[in-house]
Formats: sequence, structure tokens, C-alpha cells
Amino acid sequence: MIIAIDGPSGAGKSTVSKEVASQLGFSCLDTGAMFRAIAWKALECGIDLSDAQAVGKIAREYQIDFQCMEGEVLPSVVTIGGTDVSREIRTSRIDRSVSAVSAHVPVRSAMLEQQRRIGNAGNYVVEGRDIGTVVFPDAELKIFLTASAHERAIRRLAQNRERGVGSLDFDEVLADIERRDELDSSRDTAPLRAADDAVQLDSTSQTIAQIVDSICDLAKKRMGAL
Ligand code: DC
Repeated sequence: MIIAIDGPSGAGKSTVSKEVASQLGFSCLDTGAMFRAIAWKALECGIDLSDAQAVGKIAREYQIDFQCMEGEVLPSVVTIGGTDVSREIRTSRIDRSVSAVSAHVPVRSAMLEQQRRIGNAGNYVVEGRDIGTVVFPDAELKIFLTASAHERAIRRLAQNRERGVGSLDFDEVLADIERRDELDSSRDTAPLRAADDAVQLDSTSQTIAQIVDSICDLAKKRMGAL
């Protein structure tokens, strides 16, 4: 079974996906981390990020994998071509570059293949922007998770502080979120939008625990119906 969780940056997708996956005994796949890993590799190689073909070549050539740390059941380590980039992909440098990378058609088609390869291997919660619309259009459950930009900036700031990586300046974080909303929703290929059959949940005034409960209830109903 696939549970697709789409929505803008900072809506709580990662936290919600991990919690839903652990409650249901599913794996989870953070597709944003894959685009971030490509952005990191392209910068490492000194590639011009506006060059769709060159960045697409990187996306085709390097395999991205997710691994669990010892004692963990959900993956927290991201590697590209065997290099662990789990921390590097959360820096402000990558926040600023990733939307340009993820807008390129050759990059998206390479990622589509890798995402389906991983997700089709079992029961997965897959989070991203186009999971319910493009990557897994037949997903058994689709969620579109939103929150106000202000609330998302507050959460992203707390996450950066906790991880010890990324900007700690509220205005900078809010500006980055608003800029990425605009870029991710207005791009031609696989823009951020809710699938017609997605359940829309707004986490501005609901706690993460309430959102997780709603998703798990829906998933159990759908699993019962399978
Ligand atoms: O979820 P995130 O902030 O880590 O995602 C990083 C970027 O990747 C985001 O700006 C949009 C892009 N992205 C995408 O285009 N499609 C996805 N399925 C996931 C992320």
C-alpha cells in the first residue's frame, strides 16, 4: 500500500510521515531529500544549476539510497553515490538551490524512476509535492497537508535549531518558504498541487498528533477495504 503525503515546505510532512509509518509498520520515503541530494552533488561537481541536461545527467548517474542507523526502524541516512549527505542537504545553501534543480524535466524523470523503484518494494508512506498526482497516481490514500506560511516558518526554524543546521533567522526562513512555494507551484512539470482525490488536512490549528491520528484512521479504513 502507498500513502502519498504532498504539500508545501514546512507543513509537517516529514514528522507526520515518520509517525504514520511507525504506527502502521510501513517504511517511509522523503522524496524532497532526493532532490536535495542531487542539488548537493551538482554543486559539488561545479555544475551550473540552470543547465537542465547537466543536472539531469547527475540525477541519472548517481543512485540515491536511504539507510537506517543502528537500532532505528525508519531511515535517517541519505546517500548519493555512496556518500552520506544527510546533514549537508539541510543547509541554507541547499534550501536556496533545490527548487531550481527540481524544476528540470530530466531531473524529475530520473527521480520518478528511483522513487517508484523504492516505493514499489513494500508498504510506504511517500512524501513530496507530486506523489499523489504523478509518482503514485494510484496510491490507496492521498493526503494534501498544508499550514499557513507563518506557521510553517516557525516550525522550520525549530527544526533547524534542533538539527543544528540551516538558518536561524525567522525572516530569512519565511522568505525562503514563500519563494519555494511560488517556484514549486508555478513550475510547468509536476507542480505542487493537490490530487483531485486527495484528502486535504490543514495543520495550522491542529497538532501533529491529531493529523497523524486522522491519517492512520483513514489508512486503516482503506486497508480494511482492500
Ligand atoms: O520537502 P523538501 O523541502 O525537502 O523538498 C525540497 C525541494 O524539492 C522542494 O523545494 C521541492 C522539491 N520537491 C519536488 O519538487 N518534488 C517532490 N516530490 C519533493 C520535493
